[in-house]
Amino acid sequence: MTQSLSVLFEEIYQAPAQALSSAPGRVNIIGEHTDYSEGFVLPCSLEFCTKVLYRKRNDTLVTVHSTQYPGEHDRFDVSADISQGDSQWGNYIRAMAFVLKRQGHQLSGVDVLIDSDVPQGSGLSSSAALEVAIGGMFNDTAKLNLSTEDIALLGQQAENDFMDCQCGIMDQMISAKGEPGCALKIDCRDLSTQSVRIPDDLNLVIINSNYPRKLVDSEYNQRRIDCESAAQKMNIKSLRDANLDILQQFKTALTDDEYRRARHVITENQRVISAIDALASNDLEKLGDLMQASHESLRNDFEVTVAATDGIVDIIKGALADKAAVRMTGGGFGGAVVCLCRAEDVATVKRAIEQHYHAQFDLIADIYDCRAGSGLEILPVA
Ligand code: GLA
Repeated sequence: MTQSLSVLFEEIYQAPAQALSSAPGRVNIIGEHTDYSEGFVLPCSLEFCTKVLYRKRNDTLVTVHSTQYPGEHDRFDVSADISQGDSQWGNYIRAMAFVLKRQGHQLSGVDVLIDSDVPQGSGLSSSAALEVAIGGMFNDTAKLNLSTEDIALLGQQAENDFMDCQCGIMDQMISAKGEPGCALKIDCRDLSTQSVRIPDDLNLVIINSNYPRKLVDSEYNQRRIDCESAAQKMNIKSLRDANLDILQQFKTALTDDEYRRARHVITENQRVISAIDALASNDLEKLGDLMQASHESLRNDFEVTVAATDGIVDIIKGALADKAAVRMTGGGFGGAVVCLCRAEDVATVKRAIEQHYHAQFDLIADIYDCRAGSGLEILPVA
């Protein structure tokens, strides 16, 4: 794959690529919509990844092609002001150059070819994978000496300040720092991390609902506003500092939405800590209870699920009961469901989805058998 990519690079740019920057998509096991309230998350990086082949140029032009959009390309000058271009995917590259320059880094021109197998629009962080891979590339070509954490923070700023999505830090951090076979507990207050091994006999199955996602950014940004105003009314820095007692005290000062959003964040933070224990003791039933509670809280209190993702959870629970730990994953409003189960039950999950999902929702789901893959890597070209 990389070899045919390097042949394509040479065809486009008439010179070989110098290196490859690779960054993965992610699935979040638990800890949803907690990152921007400085809470805990437990995602893992996937083997699906975005690969960026590149070669430094002697001028200040950035030229970008992508195997996914063969008829399009983007070109901009890093010595001029960087603004949005016509290509939506090209804007992620511009966004990274913009935030790097804003931090005072001197960039040089580069020829780029992008390839990715991270499913798009499915809540598996294809955009964070692209931002982190591009951050890794600029770090290498301009010798910036950035840490993986710096690259993740720049990726988040690219979303917040250039792409107009007020996302938290989870997706970029896990894409930059993920480890094979492990989930990563991230404390989104101080960005400290802890590797949490996923037991070898626990399979990771992702079901992409293929539900057409609408108004995701505006709804997402509104959830963040609700959480911030709830924290402000409770006189705390962020919902990380709240607990259910404090929430009760301030109940009458909060709107109903603020109250329920805050209740989700407070209870979800506790579930992340308990899920780490459940994984450490390979207790699938306990993990299943926690993930079920997380899903219900996201459905009733945070209101980010849709009938299709609720339906997938119900179909799998109907087939496997406490032999599956399952819930929606990612930002929501469609997207994917994550299921942890034993190897012998994977076929039952697939069968149940095939039998019932299309019949109930008139959509076809994609099902991926996954493993936790590596975070950001800079590799030689094959
Ligand atoms: C999106 C955002 C993340 C996080 C999740 C919800 O993936 O990019 O920062 O908030 O939604 O947990």
